[in-house]
Amino acid sequence: MKVLIIGSGGREHTLLKACLESPLVTEVIAAPGNGGMAAEASCLPLDVADIPATVALAQAEKVDFVIVGPEVPLSLGVVDALEAVGIPAYGPNKAAAQLEASKTFTKDFLLRHSIPTAMGKRITDINDAIDYLKDHAYPVVLKADGLAAGKGVIISPDFEHAQQVAYDMLIKNTFGKSGHEILIEEFMDGEEASITLMVSGRDYVMLPPSQDHKRIGEGDTGPNTGGMGAYAPAAVVTPEVYQKTIDEIVEPTLAGLEADGITFRGTLYIGIMIVKGQPKVVEFNVRFGDPETQVLLPLLQDDPIKLMLDCAKGQLKPSEVKLKDAYAMVIVGAAQGYPDSYEKGKAICFPDTLEPDTAIIHAGTKRLEDGTIVTSGGRVLGITGIGATLREAADKAYALCGKVHFEGMQIRRDIGHRQLARE
Ligand code: AMP
Ligand code: GLY
Repeated sequence: MKVLIIGSGGREHTLLKACLESPLVTEVIAAPGNGGMAAEASCLPLDVADIPATVALAQAEKVDFVIVGPEVPLSLGVVDALEAVGIPAYGPNKAAAQLEASKTFTKDFLLRHSIPTAMGKRITDINDAIDYLKDHAYPVVLKADGLAAGKGVIISPDFEHAQQVAYDMLIKNTFGKSGHEILIEEFMDGEEASITLMVSGRDYVMLPPSQDHKRIGEGDTGPNTGGMGAYAPAAVVTPEVYQKTIDEIVEPTLAGLEADGITFRGTLYIGIMIVKGQPKVVEFNVRFGDPETQVLLPLLQDDPIKLMLDCAKGQLKPSEVKLKDAYAMVIVGAAQGYPDSYEKGKAICFPDTLEPDTAIIHAGTKRLEDGTIVTSGGRVLGITGIGATLREAADKAYALCGKVHFEGMQIRRDIGHRQLARE
């Protein structure tokens, strides 16, 4: 089977590695890929938001299966377009992708199906926003409706600030069209975790719960990023929380989608906030997390590509899937200045050999013609370790971090700190 991977981040490099290990895959190509992917497979240029170009590429390359990494092409209907020309693809169709692409759609969906989440109100008019905010409890959360690369969510400490944020989103268009409608919602005070499912209609496989670290600074301080590291399984999802998540969130969500006439096939990533033992939905994503993928796929005993193919064909058999009894951690090596502006083009030094159960996943890298790998993004690398305990996984990952270098590389030294403190 010839596979095409769409995307260019650490998630896609992990997907590529899974393809290289899969007995089902005879050839894998990627578009557009990154520096690490280019060393392992042929990478072709592509604007992932250009759906006709993606279909044309898949046809020209005669691929048998497409794995879509990022949310933007999913929200634009790339899977529908590929299926229309007979090419199976992993990822939800356009209707199902609204669960990530529209926060107001999702809030309506959650409330309509009585799935635990923060109470929220959709607002398009600034005067309505101000009236609503006057009587609201603080902090309050304001969200731009559409995809905003993780930046469209602002937590406001008081009315003055919230009023300004509402004004910026609705009138000043700070988030472009995404901000024409906003969601104002109750702040949930708890600990966050992520639940990743591979779904085929009502059937699903639940991967280990994970936790990522979104803030740039140690101790979870400073501005939000795409994620500075992650680990799994996350013990904050206790067996009780896990079961509640299945009964009160996963099952009602899949039943609700079915009742609404939406067929979901692909990854459903559920961001939950655990408030006094009660999991509540913070957000849905309709693709694998980045950097969560880097720790989840290695914990599967089964071939993830086979699972993706089964999901896409509606043939998933969840009872047969096995997970490894192990822990995994990924540390993100980011460019100096990230998540604000940063420089690119710094040469990266890699160790000659890797210890077992470690990996270097490329995210924002580029391969020059002479084979040198340089930085080309904010999150540059994901450095992973797998071990029998989280401590062992962390030790392996951090030991490898010490052997990788580029000018200005910033890492957080405390990934997994809450769970490590409890171990
Ligand atoms: P989202 O893009 O909706 O996942 O929001 C981004 C981040 O904002 C989440 O990962 C949470 O850390 C935070 N967040 C979003 N909604 C809430 C909420 N209602 N209460 C507390 N924190 C929230
Ligand atoms: N790491 C969070 C995400 O992929 O959305």
